[in-house]
Amino acid sequence: MIICICRRINDQGVREAVEAGARSPEAVQAHHGCSFNCGKCRCTIGEVISETLDADDRVLELMAAE
Ligand code: FES
Repeated sequence: MIICICRRINDQGVREAVEAGARSPEAVQAHHGCSFNCGKCRCTIGEVISETLDADDRVLELMAAE
C-alpha cells in the first residue's frame, strides 16, 4: 500500500526504514533519500512506525517467555 504518494513510499518501505533505525516520519523520508513535499503522509507514517515497533516488542516478549 502506497503511504506517501509524493515520494512513492509504501508501507514496506516504512517498515524497512524503522528496521534500519528510523523513529520519526522525517527519518523515514531521510532513509529513502527524500523529504516531505505536501506532508499529508506524516500521520500515516507515524502510525506505521508505531505498529512496527509494537510488533517488534511483541516478538521480543514472546522470545523472552520461551
Ligand atoms: S504524500 Fe508524502 S509528502 Fe506528500
